[in-house]
Amino acid sequence: MELRKEYISIRKKILKEVDKVFSSGELILSKNVRSLELNFSKYLKLKYGIGVNSGTDAIQIALMSAKIGRGDEVITVSNTAVPTVSAIVSCGAKPVFVDINIDEYLIDVNKIEEVINKKTRAVIPVDLYGQCADYEKILAIAKKNKLLVIEDCAQSVGSFYKKKPSGFFGYLSVFSFYPTKNLGAYGDGGFIGTSIKKYAEKASELRKYVMRKFYYSEEHGINSRLDEVQAAIINLKLKKLKIWINQRRKIAKIYNELLKNTSLVLPQENKKNYHAFHVYVVQHQRREFIMDKLKKNNIYCNITYPFPIHLMRGYSYLIYKKGNSPITEKLSKRIFSLPMYPQLSNSAILKIVKCLKEVGI
Ligand SMILES: Cc1ncc(COP(=O)(O)O)c(C=O)c1O
Repeated sequence: MELRKEYISIRKKILKEVDKVFSSGELILSKNVRSLELNFSKYLKLKYGIGVNSGTDAIQIALMSAKIGRGDEVITVSNTAVPTVSAIVSCGAKPVFVDINIDEYLIDVNKIEEVINKKTRAVIPVDLYGQCADYEKILAIAKKNKLLVIEDCAQSVGSFYKKKPSGFFGYLSVFSFYPTKNLGAYGDGGFIGTSIKKYAEKASELRKYVMRKFYYSEEHGINSRLDEVQAAIINLKLKKLKIWINQRRKIAKIYNELLKNTSLVLPQENKKNYHAFHVYVVQHQRREFIMDKLKKNNIYCNITYPFPIHLMRGYSYLIYKKGNSPITEKLSKRIFSLPMYPQLSNSAILKIVKCLKEVGI
C-alpha cells in the first residue's frame, strides 16, 4: 500500500527513466550505475561508491574486500535483519553477538571489548530503525584493537550522526535499496561506500567475478551487478530523500506528541543523532493484544525483530543460549512498529492513535 502511494506520486518520472533505460539497450552496470555511484557517494561525503545487487551482497563483498573469511570473527548484534549475519557466514567467518542498549536498541558499545580476541577482525554495527550507533566510541575501540568497521546502513539512509551522514563512519558502509527502505529501488539493489581506495577497487572487482579480462577470474568473486533501471530510479529518488526524511520526522513528532502520556514506550533519538525513522518502534507488554486490535481496524504493524538471531535454529551451531543477549531477548517480545512512511496522512495517524487509545494503552 505504502509503495503504491509513493509510485502514484512519482509515476510519470519513473516511467520516463525506465523507458530511457530500456530504449538505450544498456541494462546492467552502465551509465546510470556510474552516475548513482557518483551521486550517492557525494551525498555520503565518501570518495567511492559501488552499486551491487543487494544489501546482503554489499556486506559480503565489503568483508571479502578486506579478506575476512574462514577463521575470522566478526562482531555484530542479534537484533538485526538476518542478512547482516548471513553475509558474515557466507564469507566463512563466525558472527559474534553483542547485546544492544536499552535506549536506542543499538549495539552496546560498552560490551564490544568483552568479546574481542585474537580472531576478531571486524565489527558491524547496525544503524537499526533509522539512527546511528555510537561511532565515536566504536571507532576508538576499533583503532585500539585494529578492527575494521563496516557500517550496516540498510535502515539508516538519510540519518545523521554528529551532522555527518550515516555511512560516513565505517571504513566501509553498506546499504540496501530493497523497496521498503528509506531509499528503495523497484526491485533489489545495494551499495558499498568507502573512502579507502583499496577496498573500493577490490569491491568493484568482486561484484563481477574479479574478471580483469573477459571470461578469466583473477580470484574468486561473485555476481552482484546492479541493474541500470534500478540505478536510474534510485538516482531519481535520491533527489526526494531529504523531503521524505523530513516527512518521516514530522510523523514521528506527531506520534511522540499524541502518545506521550500512554503506557507505550516511545522511540528515543540519541542527542548525537538525526533520526531518519525508517521505522517507528514502540514497546508494550501486551504487544500481541494491541497489534490484533489494530489489525481488526486494518492497521498493520510489524515486528523487527521477533526472533533474536542467536537463538534461531539456522545459527544454533554458534552455540548461543537464552540469556546471552538479555536485552535483545526481552525486547523481541515487546517491540513493534507503527505505520511509518512519508505519504502517511494526518487523518491516518489520528485513526491509528485513536485505535491505540481505545485499546486502553
Ligand atoms: C539491517 C539490514 N541489513 C542488511 C539488509 C539486507 O539488505 P537486502 O535485503 O537488500 O539484501 C537489510 C534488509 O533487509 C537490513 O534491514
